[in-house]
Amino acid sequence: MAATDLERFSQNAEPEPRSLSLGGHVGFDSLPDQLVSKSVTQGFSFNILCVGETGIGKSTLMNTLFNTTFETEEASHHEECVRLLPQTYDLQESNVQLKLTIVDAVGFGDQINKDERPIVDYIDAQFENYLQEELKIRRSLFDFHDTRIHVCLYFITPTGHSLKSLDLVTMKKLDSKVNIIPIIAKADTISKSELHKFKIKIMGELVSNGVQIYQFPTDDEAVAEINAVMNAHLPFAVVGSTEEVKVGNKLVRARQYPWGVVQVENENHCDFVKLREMLIRVNMEDLREQTHSRHYELYRRCKLEEMGFQDSDGDSQPFSLQETYEAKRKEFLSELQRKEEEMRQMFVNKVKETELELKEKERELHEKFEHLKRIHQEEKRKVEEKRRELEEETNAFNRRKAAVEALQAQALHATLQQPLRKDKDKKKASGWSSIYSVTIP
Ligand code: GTP
Ligand code: MG
Repeated sequence: MAATDLERFSQNAEPEPRSLSLGGHVGFDSLPDQLVSKSVTQGFSFNILCVGETGIGKSTLMNTLFNTTFETEEASHHEECVRLLPQTYDLQESNVQLKLTIVDAVGFGDQINKDERPIVDYIDAQFENYLQEELKIRRSLFDFHDTRIHVCLYFITPTGHSLKSLDLVTMKKLDSKVNIIPIIAKADTISKSELHKFKIKIMGELVSNGVQIYQFPTDDEAVAEINAVMNAHLPFAVVGSTEEVKVGNKLVRARQYPWGVVQVENENHCDFVKLREMLIRVNMEDLREQTHSRHYELYRRCKLEEMGFQDSDGDSQPFSLQETYEAKRKEFLSELQRKEEEMRQMFVNKVKETELELKEKERELHEKFEHLKRIHQEEKRKVEEKRRELEEETNAFNRRKAAVEALQAQALHATLQQPLRKDKDKKKASGWSSIYSVTIP
């Protein structure tokens, strides 16, 4: 290998591809057709999220857009919190199958304590489902039902004033997660001049609050012009109705009032046709593509970074997935070791602490025991003393008792002797005196 080739190889530089001309027809010019045929067989999925206050006309607009009647229920004004209600339908037009999911944010904007969090969580949950499928060893993205939200139709109430702060906060929270197309609902309830001013005001507020709404792409020449024109018409002011009214000799979808008829598909009456063109006929694929390449990509990147994966180190050295995995594994193992060591140390400290506590308790018990022993001995000594005293008292008492008994005996003896003596006395006639002396010990 030449030195320059080696250098090029070591720098990972790819050699420039060389242009060659073909000798005849090969057939790979049918690739776009193969792609179309494969996509048609596989079918498409498209997921729309409708956000707007209860009764703003969400269901009517969906029915009008797809020219059918979806099963919907009127939402109550007393929902406890915002609830996301997805409904999936299989639609077919010509030979194209479309799995359409319409997600209704039921209860949004009804009461002041209802916020956008359930909507954000729902969008993230769909991204998470897709990511989990992608990360599986055996993944089947081919027949996986992709529920990621491709577009959020944000229904603005036709007040003619400014946007509500809830609208601005919600759109700001959603703009990095989903393609937002703002629409002014029930546009037949606002006059033409007011509508014009309202549109300008809304766009001004969105720009000044840094809300990024979906811009119809202008990089594809085929649709650049129409998309650029339509971008200037945002937000679309729409009217929805599935009621058919006879205008001239044609039946058209319209809303009939005592003073006239508002035709849904008349561009002089509202922007419904513009919305349908932009959303379905021209940019449906771009919405799907933007969802995957921008919003999902951002979610995926943040999620993987959160999990510790990165493409390069601090010095912008690229990391392969294998290297990242190894680094992460090492980091995890050392963290595990550190935690183990920490726990072991904690355990040792705890044992030491408990040992000390036990020793202290033992010492306290011992002291208590000694103290009780001393008290016991003292008590014993006192009792002994008392016993001795009592014994002495008993002895004294016994002695006294014996003396008294002796005395009594003497006295008795003396009493018994007295009549005899009296007789003797009488006989001797001499006076005798007797002295008894008793010594009591
Ligand atoms: P929930 O699902 O209950 O939140 O209501 P929603 O937003 O789906 O509204 P829905 O489509 O049920 O319409 C509510 C009412 O508004 C119905 O009486 C519709 O006929 C009426 N409505 C719908 N679209 C329009 C519109 O463009 N203009 C006017 N004036 N009324 C409309
Ligand atoms: Mg509805």
